[in-house]
Amino acid sequence: MAEAGLHLTDEDAVAQLAAQLAPQVRGGGVIYLRGDLGAGKTTFARALIAALGVQGRIKSPTYSLIESYRAGGLAIHHLDLYRIADPGELEWLGLEELQDDVSLILIEWPERGVGALPAADLALNLVHAAAGRTLFVCAASARGEAWLAGTSAFHSGA
Ligand SMILES: Nc1ncnc2c1ncn2[C@@H]1O[C@H](COP(=O)(O)OP(=O)(O)OP(=O)(O)O)[C@@H](O)[C@H]1O
Ligand SMILES: [Mg+2]
Repeated sequence: MAEAGLHLTDEDAVAQLAAQLAPQVRGGGVIYLRGDLGAGKTTFARALIAALGVQGRIKSPTYSLIESYRAGGLAIHHLDLYRIADPGELEWLGLEELQDDVSLILIEWPERGVGALPAADLALNLVHAAAGRTLFVCAASARGEAWLAGTSAFHSGA
């Protein structure tokens, strides 16, 4: 497991990181996004989805639970589990079928879906800092390790 803390001073820094990570994740996988209310999970997901080439408005899935996109051959599913009361509520989504496709699944509040979610390749944890946010990243599979290895911001002395 690799772990590093990265300071993201503002949304531009988030966009720059997303631009570096996007080419790594084009083959699909699963990213968990953790952090308190307002920590920047949606901001990060939105930046990554945009960096993958999705144009137009990228809505927060806070109310819809899931928002899906396509970027070339990649299906992208952005979930926010904040409002679910029980992981059983995720059954209708057919998450396993979503994974059959070449798909990138971004999950905010994964702790609310324990037991009903695909395993993460990468777990991100966003924390409020004096200015901006600090991002802690943890690879949870060989694929996640490869993503980190290909993203220079994650190994430039952080
Ligand atoms: N790196 C950053 N530096 C400064 N401000 C940021 C950063 N990332 C996000 N923000 C700001 O923080 C606010 C909350 O961000 P966001 O909605 O992404 O949080 P969230 O973690 O998705 O919250 P929720 O738990 O409600 O879904 C937004 O106004 C956003 O512009
Ligand atoms: Mg959010």
